[in-house]
Amino acid sequence: MRRFLIAGNWKMNCGPGETATLISNLKQRLPSVPDGVDVLVCPPEISLTTAADELVDSKIMFGAQNVHFEDNGAFTGEVSTKMLTEVGCHYVIAGHSERREYFAETDQTVHRKTKKALEAGLKPIICVGESLDQRKKDVHDTMVSKQVQAALNGVDESLIQDTVIAYEPIWAIGTGETATPEQAQEMHNMIRNVIADLYDERSAEAVRILYGGSMKPHNAEELLRQTDVDGGLIGGASLQADSFAEIIEIAEKLS
Ligand code: PGA
Repeated sequence: MRRFLIAGNWKMNCGPGETATLISNLKQRLPSVPDGVDVLVCPPEISLTTAADELVDSKIMFGAQNVHFEDNGAFTGEVSTKMLTEVGCHYVIAGHSERREYFAETDQTVHRKTKKALEAGLKPIICVGESLDQRKKDVHDTMVSKQVQAALNGVDESLIQDTVIAYEPIWAIGTGETATPEQAQEMHNMIRNVIADLYDERSAEAVRILYGGSMKPHNAEELLRQTDVDGGLIGGASLQADSFAEIIEIAEKLS
């Protein structure tokens, strides 16, 4: 019942020119978006209007990589939910581990961003995941469930189906190392149980949980085959039309 969501996180890559090229390559490689899969690209903010123009006639959606939790005002360098919806964003990534690590995002800011996004009609993709050290110390379950609980704290039940969680073990991001399908399934299932405890079984079943961390065409199938893996948040492999399209086609085959 959950549709796959294959989302590209372009990070700090592709200004407007390269965004136009990459989207055009993607549309050529994938003339129609498969029925069973939602496809999303998240370029840098400066390229969002280009993405909007390039995707006017396409079912490929676009979103932002970050947003502020206030409506407007003296927050130099930030963008608001209203600005993102004005250009046509559907989704926004919240609390990516790189933002937590390099830009001091905390569970509290991720929570505020999540609530603000949902209020504005944007679907947040809330990123959670443990470091290698935390996994070695066997505290990954506790860590990740705390992150999920903090982000969703007080989110109204009516909005929970618009929320997406991305489980991204930090040790797998950009490293070429991936969680095994079993590790991913175990964590995704744990996350779904946390949501069921916070809300109920039905809400938990409605939330899409993506895997992120070196998802590539060669490992996407075994990850996407897992019961609780509902798609991918893809960095490196989303920067080439071919590899991104291949992952989308794998999801289509499994849908
Ligand atoms: P990666 O990035 O696919 O390059 O590991 C994933 C992410 O950080 O969202």
